Formats: sequence, structure tokens, C-alpha cells
Amino acid sequence: MKVAVIGTGYVGLVTGTVLAEIGHCVTCIDLDEAKIRQLQSGEPTIYEPGLEELLVKNIARNNLHFTTNHAEAFQHADVILLAVGTPQGTNGEADLSYIQAAAQTIATTVTKDVVVMIKSTVPPGTNDQVEQLIRQQLIQDVKVDVVSNPEFLREGHAVEDAFHGDRIVIGSECAKAGEVVATLYAGLQMPVLHTNRRSAEMIKYAANAFLAVKISYINEIANLCDAIGADVSDVADGMGMDKRIGRAFLNAGIGYGGSCFPKDTEAIAHLAKERQTPLTIVESAIHSNQKQRQRFIDKIERYFHGQVANKKIAILGLAFKPNTDDLREAPSLEIIDALEKKGALISIYDPIITHPKSALSIIECVTEADAVVLVTEWQEFIESDWTAIGASVANRVLFDGRNALPANKLQQAGWTYIGIGKERK
Ligand code: UGA
Repeated sequence: MKVAVIGTGYVGLVTGTVLAEIGHCVTCIDLDEAKIRQLQSGEPTIYEPGLEELLVKNIARNNLHFTTNHAEAFQHADVILLAVGTPQGTNGEADLSYIQAAAQTIATTVTKDVVVMIKSTVPPGTNDQVEQLIRQQLIQDVKVDVVSNPEFLREGHAVEDAFHGDRIVIGSECAKAGEVVATLYAGLQMPVLHTNRRSAEMIKYAANAFLAVKISYINEIANLCDAIGADVSDVADGMGMDKRIGRAFLNAGIGYGGSCFPKDTEAIAHLAKERQTPLTIVESAIHSNQKQRQRFIDKIERYFHGQVANKKIAILGLAFKPNTDDLREAPSLEIIDALEKKGALISIYDPIITHPKSALSIIECVTEADAVVLVTEWQEFIESDWTAIGASVANRVLFDGRNALPANKLQQAGWTYIGIGKERK
């Protein structure tokens, strides 16, 4: 099939590339000319494992094109995939201005019947509005159907998830349009759930909010574990052995970040309040997540008896999670800012992201440090020789914000290990 993709962020670029890989002819559109030139040359504009190889391969196969010109991309398209951003508005609501702009462009540019798939995370009812908007503003006598097709890609695993995700959700009001989308994905062999548009939109928010609640729940259990001397990792393992609960997303830490959970929980809580059916559990998860970062900062301060001024603190990890260069809502930023405000001397190392205070290696970052703070659980940190690192620091104390390192081994190597929900009484 011929596919046009509007938006070359994580979702648009990864989905477009994977659709090209399974044999479709894909043209990705973005307004940013520099970005389009970079992509045309086969160089990804984001860090995502496995993406570059597929990009280069499919450009060479002539299956994958990039342009700033909508008309050129829409000319032969059977499907237009909408993957533009829906950032957080001023009151927590989803800002739909990019969606509306794209819908207007579609209405005034398409010259043939087409199915528009909305992949962006949008509040229930948006697909209906977009279809109405397009149909009202169409300048050609063509048929446009809008189908909701939410994405479930995790950054850092987006390519893997695009090929081997748990499900494909197709929300349509027109069976034929829904079938077009099902055919598009036929090469992926994933379970498909057909439903109506509003339910598909809701599935995305309900899933993300549930995962956010799960994380905030285990974080609060971790805080209680600290207070009573239990180990939250063992607690999570024991809970996770119950198939009804599952072990995934029960890793306690410094709270969720990124471009999805913070924004999507706010958006669905905002919508629910507006409809007088508040999602109080999601609201609590949002509040709890904000407090979790502060608790970690307090822990570091308490260790230094409130005197972090002039202490050299080495921060390991900037990205909001491993295997991505994304800094959106990254807990690292808040932690660094708070410690700097209290006069700490910060050094930073992240395997991918550079920062004005970045060191070139872990060892350079931790040299003479009074404390090491692990913020992102990059594999490089987990595989490091912590005995060697211990020889470089001024004081062997490690705050493990992700419970990612083996506490016992570190303690044997002379470290004071302070995790989340692991305080021994
Ligand atoms: C999330 C969802 O997992 C995807 O299914 C969804 O498609 C995506 O949002 C989206 O809406 O676009 P993502 O934000 O990339 O994906 O990353 P996650 O792996 O879900 O992690 C989110 C945050 O939760 C990270 O800060 C991570 O460190 C944190 N987390 C995750 C925990 O603190 N504990 C856990 O057990 C798991």
C-alpha cells in the first residue's frame, strides 16, 4: 500500500520505517527542512536502537521517502497516518492544534479517497471531530474516513514493539476503513482488536494511566518498605508471581517521566473532571509521582545532614529512561536543579546525552565525588566495575534511584548503598 506519514517524531518515524520494512511504500512528511534532509541521507533524528539500519535499508530499497511537501506525499496515498504531537496545554488538557492543522492540510490537499489513521494520543471524541473537520473543508469530491489506531511503542524499544507489540487496536465507524488499516498491518502478525473510535482512543489513555498508577503504587509501597525495613524488589517479585498482578512496571524508583505518562495522565484526569467523573486514582498517582522525586532529593540531603553545599555529587544518567536520548520530564533535571540550588557541585555522565557539565566517562564523572547518584539505569552503569569506581570517589556512597545495582556486591566493595525501599532496620 502507499502510505503518507505526517510527523517524524518517535511514533511517525518508527512506524513509517517499519511499514516500509514490511513492504509498503512510505513517504514521511515534516515541516522542518533540515530534519527532512537529515532523514533523506539515512541519518535518524532520534536515538532509537535498530532504527538507523532499517532507515538506510528502506531508503535504498526505494520504499521510504521524506518530504516537506504534503501534496507530493498524498498524491497516491491509500492511507495517511497522523503522528503529530499532542503536547500538554496550559490546564493539563491535550493541545490539539497540530492535529487540527494537519486535518486542515489533509482536507485542502487530498485528491483521492483515503483513510486517515490517527496514531497520536488524542482525547476520546477527537477522531470524530477530525473526520467532521476534514469532510467540511474538503475541496475535492473524495471520501475520507478517519480511523483511530493508537500506538503502544516504548521509547528505547520502539522498533521491537512495532514488530512484536502485544496488540493492534483499530477503532473505526466504517468497517471498510477498519479493514484497510488491518490490511496495512497484516504483515506484522499481532493480535488485532477492532472497536469503535472512542473506545480505541480510551484504550490508549486507560492503558497509560494504569501503568502510571502501577508505578506510583509500587513507589509508595517502597516508601513504606523503607520505613519498616522490607525490600521492595523482593516484595515486587512476590507480588508479580501472581499472574493477576504481573511483575512488569513494578520497579520502584524516582517516579515516571518521559513524553507520555506525565502528559497523558494529566490529559485524561482533566477530561474526566470536565465530564464530572473524576479519575481520583489517576490524580493520586500524578501527585504521588511528583512527591517521589522530592523524597529522593530529601534522602540525599539527609545523608549530608542538610549540608550538600560544596559537596561534589556525580549524577549517572540524564535520559528519562535507558536507550533513549529523550529528556522530556526526565527526573534527572529536577534532581540536578534542586541539588545545585542547595550549592552542590554537580558532574554528569550519560552514555548518549551531553550536557554543559558532562564528563566523558563514568570515571571522570565520579572522580573525587562525595556521592554518586544513579538516575537512569543504563546497561553501562550496571556492567561497570564498581570496585574501580570506588577507588576514584572521595566517599563511597551510592544513591541508586532505580534499584538497578546489586546492593550486596556494592556493600562488599565498601560502598554505602542507598536504594528505594531497601533500608535495613
Ligand atoms: C509509554 C508506554 O509504556 C508505551 O506503551 C506508550 O506507547 C508510550 O508511553 C506512549 O504513550 O507513547 P515510554 O514513555 O516510552 O512508553 O516508556 P516506559 O517504558 O513506559 O517508561 C515510562 C516511565 O516509567 C519511565 O520514566 C520509566 O523509568 C518509568 N518506570 C517504568 C518506572 O519507574 N518503573 C517501572 O516499573 C516501569
